[in-house]
Amino acid sequence: MDTTAESVEAQYIDSLPASFRWGVATSAYQIEGAVAEDGRTPSIWDTYCRVPGMVDGGHTGDVACDHYHRMPEDVALIRDLGVDTYRFSVSWPRVQPGGRGPVNPAGLDFYDRLVDELLRNGIDPWLTLYHWDLPQELEEAGGWPARDTAYRFADYAMLVFDRLQDRVRTWTTLNEPWCSAMLGYAEGRQAPGKQHLPSAIAAVHHLLLGHGLATQRMRAAASKPVQLGITLNMGTAIPNTEAAVDQDAARRADGLGARIYLDPLVHARYPADVVEDLAKVGISLPVQEGDLAIIAAPIDVLGVNYYSSHYYSGTDEQGRTEDAQGHPVSRQIPHGHPVTDMGWEIIPEGFTELLVRLGRDYPGLPMVITENGSAFVDEPDATGFVDDVERTAYFASHIGAVAKARAAGADVRGYFAWSLMDNFEWSYGYAKRFGIVRVDYETQVRTPKRSALWYRDTIRRVRGSQ
Ligand code: NOJ
Repeated sequence: MDTTAESVEAQYIDSLPASFRWGVATSAYQIEGAVAEDGRTPSIWDTYCRVPGMVDGGHTGDVACDHYHRMPEDVALIRDLGVDTYRFSVSWPRVQPGGRGPVNPAGLDFYDRLVDELLRNGIDPWLTLYHWDLPQELEEAGGWPARDTAYRFADYAMLVFDRLQDRVRTWTTLNEPWCSAMLGYAEGRQAPGKQHLPSAIAAVHHLLLGHGLATQRMRAAASKPVQLGITLNMGTAIPNTEAAVDQDAARRADGLGARIYLDPLVHARYPADVVEDLAKVGISLPVQEGDLAIIAAPIDVLGVNYYSSHYYSGTDEQGRTEDAQGHPVSRQIPHGHPVTDMGWEIIPEGFTELLVRLGRDYPGLPMVITENGSAFVDEPDATGFVDDVERTAYFASHIGAVAKARAAGADVRGYFAWSLMDNFEWSYGYAKRFGIVRVDYETQVRTPKRSALWYRDTIRRVRGSQ
């Protein structure tokens, strides 16, 4: 590892305040397993995993990290990392099978026990209501492109909120709606695997509407102060060259990747340039009267998930600016940065730039980094220990990037490492490992990697250096 770079980062990291929140994150389908237990019904991911060719190696979340049966052991792991917060998600089809009707007590009991176990260990629970596992029945009724799904989501949110709001103070409605909408309904690279851009754009609006409806209802029902928010995945969209056509490609990528969510959430309007671009290809957002006021229900925190940034070109290999369907070209161009095992370029400067820009364009909205991390090929020694130098360096440079953004005025209040442990990486199955704790899927043995020890020591040092 480049120790010089590490010590430069350390100086920035040490400037983080004592009140800074430190956590680790996971999601239900990626770790729980037990997909047919205690009344849980299938989600779109159970279905998608069974379509041949959709998930590498034919992997599924059927067992995953078996967290459903090993939860107390996993909470002890989290405690030993010295973090103050654990971000997890609730499985909708576990709590409300089929996505409608009454609560399934056995399903909700699991999260009740998890919350108690966390609190007993001095860890603050941070609950995400939706991390991509839509009940399959709701998909069959139209999924997120259907307006009704937004109302179903708000009902489900209240089942969870009513039971846990006495102990959970921070609530995230949606994780990365861009992935649910665009990867799920336009690109087909995630469940439910559809490829229809107009459906994806309808999904964007209904996801946001579901967020707003749930936020309004939770706020009204809160019996004590709660922190409500949403998590978006974003990067910096950089023009590949100074050429106008590349600048326009970057603008469009940022429009569909970030501003189509941020502007309605914060300013109660969709960005005019995005609406115009969509109109040019015959697509409109299915907005009804009053929707934007609901979507802009005040939130207390913006969750930011950052992994990489991208350079955009507005021309294809042949220099054309439009594809066969007449859509303008927006092509990502690698720029020679080192990459992770996902092939994602490592660009911590893009993280600083993103946070500073969010702070400037959306002032008054505190941010927390709800995910950041990297997959690398791990080589465990005979004891199962992984000396993950590259992952550790990734954390150091990216936490440093957060500290730099704070120094430049961005109001970032916390950081969560993705992920607590290796888990089911969606279409990539178990081959891609993001954990700071290694999971041996044969034995389910968990072994903290070097990055986990570094993270623990860093948190301790930052707290101690105040
Ligand atoms: C973001 C998603 O929220 C998470 O589920 C996923 O594992 C990570 N990115 C890494 O791809």
